[in-house]
Amino acid sequence: MNDIIQAVAALSRGQLVAFPTETVYGLGADANNPNAVQKIFKLKGRPRHHPLIVHIADVCQLHEWAVDIPDATYSLAKTFWPGPLTLILKKASHVSDWVTGGQETIGLRIPQHPIARTLLEKFGTGIAAPSANRFGHISATTADAVLEEFGKAVNFILDGGQCSVGIESTIVDMTAAMPGILRLGAISKHEIASHLSSGVTGWQINSPRVSGSLASHYAPDTLTKMISSVTDFLNNLKEDDFPCALLIRKKPNVILPNKTIDFVIMPDDPQQYAHDLYHTLRMLDKKQYRQLVIEALPDTSMWDTVRDRLTRATALRDVMQVKSLLA
Ligand code: TXA
Ligand code: MG
Repeated sequence: MNDIIQAVAALSRGQLVAFPTETVYGLGADANNPNAVQKIFKLKGRPRHHPLIVHIADVCQLHEWAVDIPDATYSLAKTFWPGPLTLILKKASHVSDWVTGGQETIGLRIPQHPIARTLLEKFGTGIAAPSANRFGHISATTADAVLEEFGKAVNFILDGGQCSVGIESTIVDMTAAMPGILRLGAISKHEIASHLSSGVTGWQINSPRVSGSLASHYAPDTLTKMISSVTDFLNNLKEDDFPCALLIRKKPNVILPNKTIDFVIMPDDPQQYAHDLYHTLRMLDKKQYRQLVIEALPDTSMWDTVRDRLTRATALRDVMQVKSLLA
């Protein structure tokens, strides 16, 4: 508790505080203090026009941040908050452009992690927080990972252990006539749709406002690629494939003479896979592999979210795309 009180004091002074949520760690600043929010962009290397999620403690705070809130918002909030859901609403007039990326909307979320909840209750107002990682890099699911990303540049890191969900929240835009999924996350499209009488539109790839929708995101520094057939990969190994780590869901029955491939057995369950994904990539990224090779996931809807993250983690970084966004 002492830590949380100190974290609240740091936020009030305009400093940055990293804190655990059930999805990933957030890099937080007082959402009412544009100078503090600016520091997030500088530290992350994040393009200025990418909006941040404002985290709040309670549904009754929605009115402090949003206007014209449609009824369906409350139906989703009642079911999924606190939890891994972010709702996009029309912003209240006082909300800084630094928070919204200059848009007329705002993303809001009530996280479930007990430390995040206590921090938000004690702070009493919104905390703007993106995932606590350098722009485009793997999200942090432990306090150590936050430290690896930013070192001492973050004034305060609250350690809440490893995040239970392990990937980011589902984002639903409530401002259109029919709500739309902007980012797949821990809550599936099916679950969202079942609580909306209007239905929900699918998630739109390549919306530039959603940084997680850039082709290359959540990416390790090591070359990372996806393969559709483990057998084909193993039968066609080349000298410069090594050393390599192969992420698979079941170890194949093959003998590989004189070659070092580290097999990393990932869970065969989408939630467990999601929980382990960033943590595993981060651990492997620290070793000196020439490449990380990941077996493609089953083409079924229950794997959609993890497949989305893996596709982005393995996309080649388009330097020009990032440069144009930073301009
Ligand atoms: O689980 C999560 O959502 C984590 C934890 C810390 O809450 N946060 C997170 O933040 O993933 P970040 O900034 O890494 O990703 C948030 C995404 C960004 O892609 C941003 O563009 C989008 O939310 N976003 C925020 N406000 C938005 C808005 N008004 N309209 C559209 N997209 C928005
Ligand atoms: Mg992020």
